[in-house]
Amino acid sequence: MSDQQLDHADDRRAGDGSARLVPRRSVLRGLLGGAAAVVAANSVTPGVAHALGTNRPTGGGSDYEDGFNTLASEDSTRSIPFYGEHQAGIGTPPQTAAAFLAFDVTAANRAELTDLFRTLTARAAFLTAGGTPAQAQPNQPPADDRLLGPTVLPDDLTVTVALGASLFDGRYGLGPRKPAQLETMRAFPHDALDPAISDGDLLVQLCANHHDTVGHAMLDLLQHTGGGMRLRWRMEAFRFPPRPVGIPRDWMGFKDGITNPDTSDAGQMNQEVWLQPGTPEPAWTAGGTYQVIRIIRMLLDKWSQVPVDQQEHIFGRRKLSGAPLYATSPTASDTLDPVYTNDPQGLLTPLNCHIRLANPQTPQTAATSAILRRSFQYDRSLDPAGVPNLGHVFCCFQQQLNTYTTMQTRLEDEILVPYITPMGGGYFFAVPGVRNAQDYFASGLLA
Ligand code: HEM
Repeated sequence: MSDQQLDHADDRRAGDGSARLVPRRSVLRGLLGGAAAVVAANSVTPGVAHALGTNRPTGGGSDYEDGFNTLASEDSTRSIPFYGEHQAGIGTPPQTAAAFLAFDVTAANRAELTDLFRTLTARAAFLTAGGTPAQAQPNQPPADDRLLGPTVLPDDLTVTVALGASLFDGRYGLGPRKPAQLETMRAFPHDALDPAISDGDLLVQLCANHHDTVGHAMLDLLQHTGGGMRLRWRMEAFRFPPRPVGIPRDWMGFKDGITNPDTSDAGQMNQEVWLQPGTPEPAWTAGGTYQVIRIIRMLLDKWSQVPVDQQEHIFGRRKLSGAPLYATSPTASDTLDPVYTNDPQGLLTPLNCHIRLANPQTPQTAATSAILRRSFQYDRSLDPAGVPNLGHVFCCFQQQLNTYTTMQTRLEDEILVPYITPMGGGYFFAVPGVRNAQDYFASGLLA
């Protein structure tokens, strides 16, 4: 939280020390015209969406049930613009189906690597726009598996490409152009990292409204890029429907994703998410962002034994409403901001609860408290003991990788620790957007 935002948080406090309950998005709601804005956001045509940039109207609370928190569209003909300054799938609202695909790159040299990125770009441009697949010649393999029927439907598909630190080793001579903070993920004290689901030269994040769209895109990319990269690990993931409305819940039953940067605010995104030109970072990185994936198993058998009021103190929010702990009414809004100024000892909101360690709202932590979370849930069947392996594909984007690592370091002391086990993931750099049909992923790096 910036100092200015902290000031605003203080403004919301009544003189008697009790919290005045003011929803934080009231200004935005007023500007957008409330529910009408939600309808407008959902009926936006591709052309209009393009004019708006990669961001649609957004919001975190119940009033924005179809805003940033989940695209609930059943309209498979709708598309999210592929070309732009930034990649889609970051500042665009999370869809309900996702796959995270990590690859080892097998291209023999820099020229083959460039071919790989050109091919990925061409396939992503086609798949995200949709259309009729090419007709195969008789006796030739089919051009499309027809998983989506006669026409490839865009279905709000986004294809987001990010690079791992290992791509910048000696193989392609890219070392001097590595994003300055990009490194291989190291284990934090409570991690149990499994190399089989960690790291990779390349991460492709696929998101769409339906799982068949995601599966089709994955098979298409694998078919077209066979010689250039090999799948290293894969996580299928999803977002639950909002219950009853607003922010979707995670496996632990809490609304997850309430406090997030406003993706429709270009100024905030430029400050917190997108890399800017004229920094110590290599010039080609401007418009990109650091992406962190953490595959975090939730120990739900243990969690289910914890009384709800303790669960609420572990996260720092109410379970059913999602409101901060100072709001006791079951109908309190999750748009209320957590405020700690009248609770320095953590009597109401524990100092070591999840949200207070993630964002302590102090001047010392203001620079390391804002990340854009865009997480999904996973279901990985049974573990060897016969227990369902369920959890979180935690995904976040930030201008500085250090923001994430500092936040995670604080969270090593949180009281949620006994109920989760981080198992894998990695650090990546999501490249800038593909500008037009002549451009390709990471062109600034490879040119
Ligand atoms: C299984 C793992 C996790 C679960 C179940 C979880 C769940 C939650 C929940 C329920 C909230 C409160 C509602 C909200 O604002 O979204 C929250 C907030 C938050 N979480 Fe997590 N989270 C997890 C991991 C992480 C990690 C790894 C980070 C970053 C290192 C993180 C950063 C945050 C932040 C920044 C907030 C908002 C804090 C605020 O400003 O109030 N979370 N999380």
